[in-house]
Amino acid sequence: MRLITGAAGFIGSQLAHRLWKDGAELILIDNFSYGSKDNLMFEDHDFNSEIQKVDIRDKEAIKEIFQNNKIDYVYNIAGIAPLPDCQLNPTEAIEVNLVGFVNILENSRIYGVKKVIQASTNAMYENETEFPTHEDNFKQPTLIYPNTKYCAERFAESYCKTYGMNVTCLRFANVYGPHIDCLRKQPPFVGYMIRELYYDRVPVFHSTGEQRRDYIYVEDLINLAILVQKSEGFDCVNVSSNKNYSVNEMYAIAQRLMGKDIKAEYANTDHYWYKYPGLYEGAYPIKSEILNHEVNKYSLCDNSLAHEKYGWTPMVDMEEGLQNVIEYEVKLLSRK
Ligand SMILES: NC(=O)c1ccc[n+]([C@@H]2O[C@H](COP(=O)([O-])OP(=O)(O)OC[C@H]3O[C@@H](n4cnc5c(N)ncnc54)[C@H](O)[C@@H]3O)[C@@H](O)[C@H]2O)c1
Repeated sequence: MRLITGAAGFIGSQLAHRLWKDGAELILIDNFSYGSKDNLMFEDHDFNSEIQKVDIRDKEAIKEIFQNNKIDYVYNIAGIAPLPDCQLNPTEAIEVNLVGFVNILENSRIYGVKKVIQASTNAMYENETEFPTHEDNFKQPTLIYPNTKYCAERFAESYCKTYGMNVTCLRFANVYGPHIDCLRKQPPFVGYMIRELYYDRVPVFHSTGEQRRDYIYVEDLINLAILVQKSEGFDCVNVSSNKNYSVNEMYAIAQRLMGKDIKAEYANTDHYWYKYPGLYEGAYPIKSEILNHEVNKYSLCDNSLAHEKYGWTPMVDMEEGLQNVIEYEVKLLSRK
């Protein structure tokens, strides 16, 4: 039996679908704070009647799930991912991304889970200056979100060292693919860009658009998440294509694939989180240099550990991946 938390979200729902197709027995939970019923509906299966509305922080409910089922593998995909949401509600971000995860770890310890796979992030390399970035010896992060995930890894390591448990923390690069959220307050760049093109609107990017990030297609990520089930002990593994793209390069590909010709606008980085006025208020408003750094940071993760230890190679290139997102998003937006 496999437990997937955050199963109504982008990555969790795709993982559920893949494991279901592979014939796995699944327990799916989500508190629906960000997830949606739409994500649970696939052409060949609808998970809406199977998923349980449970919060990973709920000690009683989580204990009951572990007590009543023989869970061998846990995928802790639940989390609060948008950076400004974590900045604005730091205690909730810590409760979910850290305390909720420790609740999962503790039950995994008591009830004998063979392997826990944690959704971690390459956002913790935000202050890194060496590229491609390896898993070890990086500079500690600054913002709330990467710190919650960084601390979660430390607790996973503690459980592995203290009890001999097995946990792999997968540090995802920017994940894209069908089910990426394009409707939330601050959608991820890929979801936002395609949405604006769909409506023939002028997208607003920050800085010059020359900033480069690395990406990973959701199906490639899932392939690795399955491969790591077999390893023992504790490890942290980058999940990246080891190739990065600028905002402008991505936008050019999306425009071509969608047959559009709309010139983007570029805004000052100070306005990056303008939809979150709370961050600009109070005695200590967010620093311009932090926003500037967040927008302009360069990211490129080394993926050789995943290749050497797990025999994993990403298969989907950007054109094919974006085409799949476009098809998904166009279908979704045409129904709204
Ligand atoms: N998408 C990315 O580019 C990316 C990159 C790095 C890491 N991650 C991590 O991967 C995970 C999944 O990301 P995603 O893009 O699918 O995000 P998502 O928001 O689509 O999915 C997260 C899911 O977790 C659920 N959730 C939140 N708090 C919960 C709680 N307390 N109890 C139960 N469920 C809860 C949400 O409702 C949502 O369905 C997150 O932990 C995120 O931090 C994502």
